[in-house]
Amino acid sequence: MKFSLSTASALDANTECLIVGLFKSGSLSGAAAAVDGASNGAITALRDSGDINTGLGQTTLLPRIDGISSRLLVVGLGERDKLTEQGFDNACGAAVRRLGSSPVKQAHSFLTEVEVGSNQWRTRQAAIAATSAAYRYERTRKIDSSAPAPLAELTLHGSSDLEAAMTQGHAIGIGINRAKELGNLPPNICTPAYLKSQAEDMAAELDKVSLETLDDQQMEALGMGALLGVGQGSVNRPYLIVLSYNGGKDGDRPHALVGKGITFDTGGISLKPGPAMDEMKFDMCGAAGVLGTFEAIARMKLAINLVCVVPAVENMPDGKSYRPGDVLTSMSGKTIEVLNTDAEGRLILCDALTYVQKFEPVSIIDVATLTGACVIALGAHASGIMTHHDDLADELLQAGNSICDRGWRLPLWDDYQKQIDSPFADMANIGGKPAGTITAGCFLARFTEGCRWAHIDIAGTAWHSGKNKGATGRPVSLLSQYLIDQVAS
Ligand code: BES
Ligand code: MN
Ligand code: ZN
Repeated sequence: MKFSLSTASALDANTECLIVGLFKSGSLSGAAAAVDGASNGAITALRDSGDINTGLGQTTLLPRIDGISSRLLVVGLGERDKLTEQGFDNACGAAVRRLGSSPVKQAHSFLTEVEVGSNQWRTRQAAIAATSAAYRYERTRKIDSSAPAPLAELTLHGSSDLEAAMTQGHAIGIGINRAKELGNLPPNICTPAYLKSQAEDMAAELDKVSLETLDDQQMEALGMGALLGVGQGSVNRPYLIVLSYNGGKDGDRPHALVGKGITFDTGGISLKPGPAMDEMKFDMCGAAGVLGTFEAIARMKLAINLVCVVPAVENMPDGKSYRPGDVLTSMSGKTIEVLNTDAEGRLILCDALTYVQKFEPVSIIDVATLTGACVIALGAHASGIMTHHDDLADELLQAGNSICDRGWRLPLWDDYQKQIDSPFADMANIGGKPAGTITAGCFLARFTEGCRWAHIDIAGTAWHSGKNKGATGRPVSLLSQYLIDQVAS
């Protein structure tokens, strides 16, 4: 999508479609009032008659009204005193989705006038929401050539000093869409080798980015027995993808992101039940999230050094598969008794977390669709955040709150650690039913001692099931905001 800023009034805007917000009740303001005035009270009349739905995020497209030279998209904002930042975000997305099923290609939005958050915040959030709402999955389905194209150009009401906020929002939106596309691709396309090729494309396209990839032999030489154990049942060989962005000063320690890249999780020998198993193609959404964030950061040319590590592995049952009872030796030297081959995410992450420490990162955040238990605990609304560092937890929670991509903290107390003790190895890979999300975090904590590290479980937030099945692009926003805040502080 192409973005621009303009301070033209609603009546002067040269556009195919004006986007204006409308509250349920009370006097009209801003663009809605201007349009109402020029149309002899048409907006007020349509609101009063119920022909405009003013429920939050409800849209009414009016092809032509007297006195207005373009189409008008009225976006419901609900009650004025109940509008939240999340509500604003929803309204911005709804507007662009509605225009995606109309002939409108270019529009001018006055939603940025609405008084919620700061001017900068609204501009950036509107750009994120619009970019993300214009995403469509097309790669493996026929597109009806008579169907309308998504909105291509959006002008946001605002002055030129909002340019930086707008381009930053656009960059985050592109990162979100990268994450959605990778998540949505089928597992026969999005294999470990495919993730590697995507990283190669990103390294070629983006400035100040370099790439290193390790194949199974190189990982073997480093002793990554946990990662390789998971991968040994698949003909799709694993890779470790290491992207570096050098936007900061040479020699400045980088921030690090690590993302679980299980391109398909059958459970392995501890095979998963059949229903909804297709959704385990989304088990690389941690990888997609960190790659999307990496792209966003590089595109906005943030003054920071960043390294992004993705263990890309497929978990399959096979004659060569690892099995319950196996003891694996991780790169750290710690041994792990496999009690369930379906607890594979922590096994690939532990080696990636050991590997990333060679960059001496200032902080390490790993992101993973790690546990079904997290879906039970937090549902689809918040990602689970675990860390030993209260200040890091606060930074992540705050980042998520401010960009409409929330997390919620779970404890990582040592009390839980004994659940993963093993009589045959330094630890087991599962800790039983109680607190399954936390014991998975406890497992990872054993590989990040002394690091400023946090773990984000996105099992409930990374994709939607049901009729709107698809990846959400979370937590690209949260991570991008966290990294932006690192430069500011
Ligand atoms: N990828 C799954 C977690 C998952 C399941 C995410 C369903 C979203 C929806 C992970 O690899 C897994 O299978 N975890 C097991 C761990 C268990 C064996 C301790 C789980 O959550 O059941
Ligand atoms: Mn699993
Ligand atoms: Zn998994």
